[in-house]
Amino acid sequence: MTLVNPRSWILKAHKEGFAIGGFNANNFEQLQAIVKAAELENAPVIVQISHRALLYLGNGNEITGLQYFADMAKRAAANANAPIALHLDHGTELEATQAIGLGFTSVMFDGESHNREDNIAISKKIADLAHKMNVCMEAEIGAVPKPDGEELDEADLVLTDPDDALEFVQKTGVDILAIALGSVHGMQTKENDLDLKRLEEIRAKVNAPLVLHGSSGVTNEAIQAAIKMGLSKINIATQLNKAFTAGVRKALNEKENLVDPRKYLTQGMEAQIEVVRERIRFLGSSGKA
Ligand code: G3H
Ligand code: ZN
Repeated sequence: MTLVNPRSWILKAHKEGFAIGGFNANNFEQLQAIVKAAELENAPVIVQISHRALLYLGNGNEITGLQYFADMAKRAAANANAPIALHLDHGTELEATQAIGLGFTSVMFDGESHNREDNIAISKKIADLAHKMNVCMEAEIGAVPKPDGEELDEADLVLTDPDDALEFVQKTGVDILAIALGSVHGMQTKENDLDLKRLEEIRAKVNAPLVLHGSSGVTNEAIQAAIKMGLSKINIATQLNKAFTAGVRKALNEKENLVDPRKYLTQGMEAQIEVVRERIRFLGSSGKA
Protein backbone atom coordinates (compact mmCIF):
# COMPACT_ATOMS: atom_id res chain seq x y z
CA MET A 1 0.00 0.00 0.00
CA THR A 2 1.06 3.59 -0.43
CA LEU A 3 1.15 5.96 2.52
CA VAL A 4 -2.34 7.12 3.52
CA ASN A 5 -3.67 10.51 4.67
CA PRO A 6 -4.94 9.64 8.21
CA ARG A 7 -7.62 12.34 8.31
CA SER A 8 -10.51 9.99 7.53
CA TRP A 9 -9.34 7.46 10.17
CA ILE A 10 -9.15 10.19 12.79
CA LEU A 11 -12.60 11.52 11.85
CA LYS A 12 -14.02 8.00 12.13
CA ALA A 13 -12.33 7.51 15.51
CA HIS A 14 -13.71 10.90 16.58
CA LYS A 15 -17.22 9.83 15.60
CA GLU A 16 -17.09 6.36 17.07
CA GLY A 17 -15.23 7.10 20.31
CA PHE A 18 -11.89 5.39 19.85
CA ALA A 19 -8.43 6.77 19.01
CA ILE A 20 -5.66 6.35 16.49
CA GLY A 21 -2.08 5.95 17.76
CA GLY A 22 0.62 8.35 16.64
CA PHE A 23 3.70 6.20 17.25
CA ASN A 24 7.13 7.86 17.23
CA ALA A 25 10.16 6.24 15.63
CA ASN A 26 13.80 7.30 15.79
CA ASN A 27 15.31 4.70 13.51
CA PHE A 28 14.55 1.93 11.03
CA GLU A 29 14.02 -0.75 13.70
CA GLN A 30 11.41 1.29 15.57
CA LEU A 31 9.61 2.03 12.30
CA GLN A 32 9.57 -1.68 11.47
CA ALA A 33 8.25 -2.55 14.93
CA ILE A 34 5.29 -0.13 14.53
CA VAL A 35 4.43 -1.47 11.07
CA LYS A 36 4.66 -5.08 12.23
CA ALA A 37 2.37 -4.37 15.19
CA ALA A 38 -0.16 -2.69 12.87
CA GLU A 39 -0.20 -5.78 10.66
CA LEU A 40 -0.65 -8.11 13.62
CA GLU A 41 -3.52 -5.98 14.96
CA ASN A 42 -5.05 -5.22 11.56
CA ALA A 43 -4.99 -1.58 12.61
CA PRO A 44 -4.34 1.75 10.90
CA VAL A 45 -1.28 3.44 12.41
CA ILE A 46 0.41 6.78 12.17
CA VAL A 47 4.19 6.48 12.16
CA GLN A 48 5.68 9.78 13.20
CA ILE A 49 9.07 11.38 13.49
CA SER A 50 9.86 14.45 15.56
CA HIS A 51 12.14 17.39 14.88
CA ARG A 52 14.86 16.03 17.14
CA ALA A 53 14.73 12.56 15.63
CA LEU A 54 15.15 14.15 12.19
CA LEU A 55 18.35 15.83 13.36
CA TYR A 56 19.55 12.46 14.66
CA LEU A 57 18.74 10.61 11.43
CA GLY A 58 20.15 13.33 9.22
CA ASN A 59 23.40 13.77 11.15
CA GLY A 60 22.37 17.25 12.26
CA ASN A 61 20.57 18.11 9.00
CA GLU A 62 16.79 17.92 9.46
CA ILE A 63 16.08 17.93 5.73
CA THR A 64 18.35 14.95 5.17
CA GLY A 65 16.55 13.31 8.10
CA LEU A 66 13.20 13.93 6.39
CA GLN A 67 14.49 12.40 3.15
CA TYR A 68 15.79 9.26 4.87
CA PHE A 69 12.61 8.77 6.83
CA ALA A 70 10.27 9.43 3.90
CA ASP A 71 12.10 6.82 1.82
CA MET A 72 12.10 4.24 4.61
CA ALA A 73 8.43 4.77 5.46
CA LYS A 74 7.31 4.60 1.82
CA ARG A 75 9.08 1.27 1.42
CA ALA A 76 7.68 0.00 4.74
CA ALA A 77 4.13 1.00 3.72
CA ALA A 78 4.49 -0.58 0.28
CA ASN A 79 5.45 -3.89 1.89
CA ALA A 80 2.90 -3.69 4.70
CA ASN A 81 -0.38 -5.44 5.05
CA ALA A 82 -1.92 -2.59 7.04
CA PRO A 83 -2.63 1.09 6.28
CA ILE A 84 0.26 3.33 7.31
CA ALA A 85 0.32 7.13 7.56
CA LEU A 86 3.53 9.14 7.80
CA HIS A 87 3.41 12.16 10.09
CA LEU A 88 5.89 14.91 10.90
CA ASP A 89 5.72 15.48 14.67
CA HIS A 90 6.64 18.86 16.25
CA GLY A 91 7.93 20.25 12.97
CA THR A 92 9.18 23.72 12.14
CA GLU A 93 7.67 25.67 9.23
CA LEU A 94 10.56 24.65 6.98
CA GLU A 95 10.29 20.98 7.95
CA ALA A 96 6.53 20.90 7.46
CA THR A 97 6.81 22.45 4.00
CA GLN A 98 9.59 20.06 2.99
CA ALA A 99 7.78 17.04 4.47
CA ILE A 100 4.70 17.80 2.35
CA GLY A 101 6.89 17.86 -0.75
CA LEU A 102 8.57 14.60 0.21
CA GLY A 103 5.33 12.62 0.51
CA PHE A 104 4.50 12.79 4.22
CA THR A 105 0.73 12.33 4.51
CA SER A 106 0.36 14.36 7.70
CA VAL A 107 2.30 17.17 9.36
CA MET A 108 2.30 18.97 12.69
CA PHE A 109 3.55 22.52 13.00
CA ASP A 110 4.79 23.18 16.54
CA GLY A 111 4.23 26.87 17.15
CA GLU A 112 5.22 26.78 20.81
CA SER A 113 8.17 29.13 20.37
CA HIS A 114 6.07 31.62 18.37
CA ASN A 115 3.67 34.25 19.63
CA ARG A 116 -0.02 33.60 19.16
CA GLU A 117 -0.40 35.69 15.96
CA ASP A 118 2.58 34.00 14.30
CA ASN A 119 1.40 30.54 15.40
CA ILE A 120 -1.96 31.26 13.75
CA ALA A 121 -0.45 32.76 10.59
CA ILE A 122 2.10 29.98 10.01
CA SER A 123 -0.38 27.21 10.87
CA LYS A 124 -2.84 28.65 8.34
CA LYS A 125 -0.17 28.88 5.66
CA ILE A 126 0.85 25.25 6.19
CA ALA A 127 -2.77 24.08 6.42
CA ASP A 128 -3.53 25.70 3.05
CA LEU A 129 -0.54 23.98 1.45
CA ALA A 130 -1.31 20.66 3.15
CA HIS A 131 -4.89 20.68 1.87
CA LYS A 132 -3.75 21.32 -1.70
CA MET A 133 -1.57 18.23 -1.41
CA ASN A 134 -4.07 15.92 0.37
CA VAL A 135 -2.07 16.05 3.59
CA CYS A 136 -3.55 16.15 7.12
CA MET A 137 -2.53 19.15 9.22
CA GLU A 138 -2.09 19.30 13.01
CA ALA A 139 -1.12 22.31 15.09
CA GLU A 140 -1.07 23.09 18.80
CA ILE A 141 -2.57 25.69 21.08
CA GLY A 142 -1.33 25.73 24.66
CA ALA A 143 1.94 24.07 25.69
CA VAL A 144 2.87 20.52 26.68
CA PRO A 145 6.35 20.90 28.25
CA LYS A 146 9.42 19.07 26.90
CA PRO A 147 11.80 18.97 29.88
CA ASP A 148 14.12 16.47 28.12
CA GLY A 149 15.47 14.92 31.32
CA GLU A 150 15.74 18.24 33.20
CA GLU A 151 13.49 19.25 36.07
CA LEU A 152 10.07 20.44 34.92
CA ASP A 153 9.57 24.19 34.95
CA GLU A 154 5.88 24.58 35.79
CA ALA A 155 5.82 27.82 33.80
CA ASP A 156 6.29 25.75 30.63
CA LEU A 157 2.90 24.11 31.13
CA VAL A 158 0.21 26.26 29.50
CA LEU A 159 -3.19 24.59 29.57
CA THR A 160 -5.34 25.26 26.50
CA ASP A 161 -8.01 27.91 26.85
CA PRO A 162 -11.29 26.77 25.21
CA ASP A 163 -11.95 30.14 23.50
CA ASP A 164 -8.39 30.24 22.16
CA ALA A 165 -8.85 26.73 20.80
CA LEU A 166 -12.01 27.74 18.93
CA GLU A 167 -10.40 30.88 17.52
CA PHE A 168 -7.31 28.89 16.48
CA VAL A 169 -9.28 26.28 14.54
CA GLN A 170 -11.48 28.90 12.88
CA LYS A 171 -8.56 31.07 11.80
CA THR A 172 -6.18 28.33 10.66
CA GLY A 173 -8.39 25.58 9.21
CA VAL A 174 -6.24 22.83 10.77
CA ASP A 175 -7.69 19.31 10.55
CA ILE A 176 -6.74 18.22 14.06
CA LEU A 177 -5.80 20.22 17.12
CA ALA A 178 -3.25 19.35 19.79
CA ILE A 179 -4.29 20.68 23.18
CA ALA A 180 -2.61 20.87 26.59
CA LEU A 181 -4.53 19.22 29.44
CA GLY A 182 -1.70 18.69 31.93
CA SER A 183 0.49 16.08 30.26
CA VAL A 184 4.28 16.44 29.99
CA HIS A 185 6.55 14.99 27.30
CA GLY A 186 9.09 12.28 28.00
CA MET A 187 7.86 10.83 31.30
CA GLN A 188 8.84 7.26 32.10
CA THR A 189 6.01 6.53 34.54
CA LYS A 190 2.27 6.97 34.16
CA GLU A 191 1.33 9.33 36.97
CA ASN A 192 -0.24 12.45 35.41
CA ASP A 193 -3.92 13.20 35.35
CA LEU A 194 -5.66 15.22 32.66
CA ASP A 195 -7.88 18.25 33.13
CA LEU A 196 -11.06 16.56 31.88
CA LYS A 197 -13.26 19.49 32.82
CA ARG A 198 -11.21 21.65 30.46
CA LEU A 199 -11.48 18.97 27.77
CA GLU A 200 -15.25 19.05 28.15
CA GLU A 201 -15.27 22.83 27.71
CA ILE A 202 -13.01 22.65 24.65
CA ARG A 203 -15.13 19.87 23.19
CA ALA A 204 -18.26 21.98 23.60
CA LYS A 205 -16.73 24.70 21.42
CA VAL A 206 -14.45 22.88 18.99
CA ASN A 207 -15.55 20.31 16.45
CA ALA A 208 -12.12 19.32 15.14
CA PRO A 209 -10.64 16.05 16.46
CA LEU A 210 -8.26 16.64 19.36
CA VAL A 211 -4.75 15.26 19.96
CA LEU A 212 -2.97 14.27 23.18
CA HIS A 213 0.80 14.76 23.39
CA GLY A 214 2.95 13.32 26.17
CA SER A 215 0.73 10.29 26.72
CA SER A 216 3.49 8.10 28.19
CA GLY A 217 3.23 9.94 31.50
CA VAL A 218 -0.59 9.92 31.69
CA THR A 219 -2.54 7.25 33.57
CA ASN A 220 -4.54 4.79 31.50
CA GLU A 221 -7.71 5.80 33.34
CA ALA A 222 -7.29 9.44 32.33
CA ILE A 223 -6.50 8.56 28.70
CA GLN A 224 -9.50 6.26 28.49
CA ALA A 225 -11.85 8.88 29.90
CA ALA A 226 -10.40 11.50 27.56
CA ILE A 227 -10.88 9.28 24.49
CA LYS A 228 -14.55 8.87 25.42
CA MET A 229 -14.79 12.66 25.71
CA GLY A 230 -13.22 13.37 22.33
CA LEU A 231 -9.46 12.86 22.10
CA SER A 232 -8.97 11.04 18.80
CA LYS A 233 -5.19 10.86 18.24
CA ILE A 234 -2.86 9.78 21.02
CA ASN A 235 0.89 10.34 20.62
CA ILE A 236 3.17 7.71 22.13
CA ALA A 237 6.96 7.93 22.17
CA THR A 238 8.69 7.35 25.52
CA GLN A 239 6.76 4.15 26.23
CA LEU A 240 8.11 2.74 22.97
CA ASN A 241 11.67 3.86 23.68
CA LYS A 242 11.47 2.25 27.10
CA ALA A 243 10.36 -1.09 25.67
CA PHE A 244 12.88 -1.05 22.83
CA THR A 245 15.78 -0.21 25.15
CA ALA A 246 14.72 -2.81 27.72
CA GLY A 247 14.80 -5.45 24.97
CA VAL A 248 18.28 -4.40 23.84
CA ARG A 249 19.52 -4.20 27.44
CA LYS A 250 18.23 -7.67 28.22
CA ALA A 251 19.94 -9.12 25.15
CA LEU A 252 23.25 -7.48 26.02
CA ASN A 253 23.05 -8.44 29.69
CA GLU A 254 22.30 -12.04 28.84
CA LYS A 255 25.36 -12.47 26.62
CA GLU A 256 28.43 -10.49 27.44
CA ASN A 257 30.14 -11.40 24.16
CA LEU A 258 27.16 -10.38 21.99
CA VAL A 259 28.35 -7.83 19.43
CA ASP A 260 26.04 -8.46 16.45
CA PRO A 261 23.60 -5.49 16.26
CA ARG A 262 21.14 -7.60 14.27
CA LYS A 263 20.70 -9.82 17.30
CA TYR A 264 20.24 -7.27 20.05
CA LEU A 265 18.25 -4.84 17.87
CA THR A 266 15.88 -7.68 16.98
CA GLN A 267 15.18 -8.14 20.68
CA GLY A 268 14.53 -4.41 20.98
CA MET A 269 12.08 -4.60 18.06
CA GLU A 270 10.29 -7.59 19.51
CA ALA A 271 9.82 -5.86 22.85
CA GLN A 272 8.50 -2.73 21.12
CA ILE A 273 6.08 -4.69 18.92
CA GLU A 274 4.35 -5.97 22.07
CA VAL A 275 3.93 -2.48 23.51
CA VAL A 276 2.60 -1.03 20.23
CA ARG A 277 0.11 -3.91 20.00
CA GLU A 278 -1.00 -3.33 23.56
CA ARG A 279 -1.48 0.42 22.90
CA ILE A 280 -3.41 -0.24 19.67
CA ARG A 281 -5.83 -2.47 21.59
CA PHE A 282 -6.02 0.03 24.45
CA LEU A 283 -6.93 2.86 22.06
CA GLY A 284 -9.63 0.74 20.46
CA SER A 285 -8.11 0.78 16.96
CA SER A 286 -7.36 -2.94 16.69
CA GLY A 287 -9.25 -4.45 13.73
CA LYS A 288 -10.09 -1.02 12.27
CA ALA A 289 -7.85 -1.26 9.20
O1 G3H B 1 4.84 13.98 20.09
C1 G3H B 1 5.07 12.95 20.74
C2 G3H B 1 4.42 12.72 21.97
O2 G3H B 1 3.76 13.77 22.47
C3 G3H B 1 4.91 11.62 22.82
O3 G3H B 1 5.06 11.92 24.18
O4 G3H B 1 7.10 10.70 24.92
O5 G3H B 1 5.34 11.32 26.51
O6 G3H B 1 4.90 9.55 24.86
P1 G3H B 1 5.63 10.82 25.17
ZN1 ZN C 1 4.46 15.67 21.42
